[in-house]
Amino acid sequence: MPIETPRKLIEEFYSQQKELSAGAREIDEATICKRGAVQWAQFDEHESSFAGKFKGLIFPSRDFREYFVQQFPDKMGKMVGLEIGGYGYNFFSDLNGVFKRSAAICLTKGYKPAREAKGKLDSHFVIEGDVMSPRTFAKPLRKFLKGEKIDFAIERMSGGLNYIVNDPRILYHRLRFWYRMMAPDGQMFFELPRNLYVGTEELKFLTQLLPEDALQMKGNTIKITRASNLKELPALWESK
Ligand SMILES: C[S@@+](CC[C@H](N)C(=O)[O-])C[C@H]1O[C@@H](n2cnc3c(N)ncnc32)[C@H](O)[C@@H]1O
Repeated sequence: MPIETPRKLIEEFYSQQKELSAGAREIDEATICKRGAVQWAQFDEHESSFAGKFKGLIFPSRDFREYFVQQFPDKMGKMVGLEIGGYGYNFFSDLNGVFKRSAAICLTKGYKPAREAKGKLDSHFVIEGDVMSPRTFAKPLRKFLKGEKIDFAIERMSGGLNYIVNDPRILYHRLRFWYRMMAPDGQMFFELPRNLYVGTEELKFLTQLLPEDALQMKGNTIKITRASNLKELPALWESK
């Protein structure tokens, strides 16, 4: 993957954002379910399902609760959590007592299972927006964060990944956005789109500017830890 002039590519990407957001809305859950396609949009899986997906990265812990107790012993009950691409009601309520507040960003919060799950957890907020277009969710996310940083973020969009832009240059740009919001030593877990599975040139490209010890990979999942002394990842176009 040539490094080329990613600034131009990224500028083009953002100038097209309006259409991208509209496109994302078009594939929102309700529409997809109406079409009778895969019911991916209904998912609001439990912690055990996430633990299964990311088991290679949380090992030897058997689940996220055990993992958090081991990784963040002083932060129990004080963590700020975020799910990128989902409702997060079940995940965060299964982890009751770990997070003081949590939020999740998904395409539409109006879908029935989310409405039903609501009320299970009063410290959890669902934000409607397109994760690829921060202007659709930046304001409510800022309001949620109240100046605080995110200790833990997780993305497991499964079928949803087929609909996002998967160019590693753009994804790196998005990654910088999340990185900036993380607390020092905060952790992000990502399920990868198919073209970025571990071992691909695209993934190497995406991760080349990350600090050496920031990255752990397993199968189609990666974990990125924010270095305590690094507020921002370098911009792509500054790379050689
Ligand atoms: C298969 S569901 C997975 C839900 C949840 N992460 C889980 O594992 O139970 C896919 C989710 O991705 C979300 N999604 C897909 N594309 C998105 C986008 N561009 N912006 C925000 N959310 C998106 C949808 O709203 C949907 O909730």
